[in-house]
Amino acid sequence: MKKQATIKSVVPFRLNRSELAVPGSRPEIFEKAAESDSDAIFLDLEDSVSVERKNKAREFILDAIRNLNWKNKTLSVRVNPIDTDFFIKDIEKLVGLNKQRLDLIMLPKVNSERDVLKLEKIVNQIEKRNKIEKKVGFELIIETAQGLINVNKIASSSKRIESLHFGAADFAASIGAKTMSIGGPHHQYGTLSPTSSKNERNFFLNDIWQVALFNIVVAAKAYGLRAIDCPYGDFNDNEGFEALAKSSYSLGFDGKMVIHPKQIKIANKIFMPTKKELSDAKLMLKAVEKSSKIGKGAIAFNGKLLDIVTIKQAKNIVQLYDKTLEKNND
Ligand code: GLV
Ligand code: MG
Repeated sequence: MKKQATIKSVVPFRLNRSELAVPGSRPEIFEKAAESDSDAIFLDLEDSVSVERKNKAREFILDAIRNLNWKNKTLSVRVNPIDTDFFIKDIEKLVGLNKQRLDLIMLPKVNSERDVLKLEKIVNQIEKRNKIEKKVGFELIIETAQGLINVNKIASSSKRIESLHFGAADFAASIGAKTMSIGGPHHQYGTLSPTSSKNERNFFLNDIWQVALFNIVVAAKAYGLRAIDCPYGDFNDNEGFEALAKSSYSLGFDGKMVIHPKQIKIANKIFMPTKKELSDAKLMLKAVEKSSKIGKGAIAFNGKLLDIVTIKQAKNIVQLYDKTLEKNND
């Protein structure tokens, strides 16, 4: 059979189903985070740390990067936004130190490609000056109105970018959305069924983040990047977290930021093909291979049409499963 298109991959493959947020000002929980099952960790210098604690938090983080065993986790630090006084110092210290362990810098509130180019320029200089061989990658949070309208240019602005993340809380603040929970639904954002309906009218909730998520995943996948969904602040609502994780997994997202250890297991399960998805995909591939041998393009499979596009979708599922297993066994 002729070779089909595969998942576009221009960045190193990393498992990113769960990415745990760890406030940099709380070193007492670093070890537990390192021990957790989260695929990735980001140590935070931004919004979970008060202005008074920023410098201290940076010291805690530098120490932890050097001295804790982060196992096979992807390790990232969320720095302060580019227009703050802390930004340059964060980058200088983190990248200057990076002889080995830090994988990624997470830049929040990216408004345009100019922000990424500025970050890249500074990182290039520091790595060159310190003769650092391990090049640090970038994770970018799209969480402002400006960031979303510029997302396509942002996604293609640097070879160091590995992923685009959605930051629902900042995004809500930026566009004036009337929600005060992090990444959850809004009970008023919906419609009523028509007045003509004989039955009682029903309220249908719409997904308030849908348009942002869609634009982010498209921009990410156009440039071979991972797409990571926003955190979910209500950490006692596992059902709500799981529903939104399933929704973004089915749209094409690779994972979700998590703000509580409880959410790690759920994210790791949801952002991986189920056994059923995998076996359906394998059966489809077999059926198509068989039919192409006898010169057929489209075929019927379990009462549904299968053609070349379905093969691509099935291959994506199989590849994702294989890569996830491979990485899990590292
Ligand atoms: C994350 O940074 C968010 O703003 O939701
Ligand atoms: Mg944010």
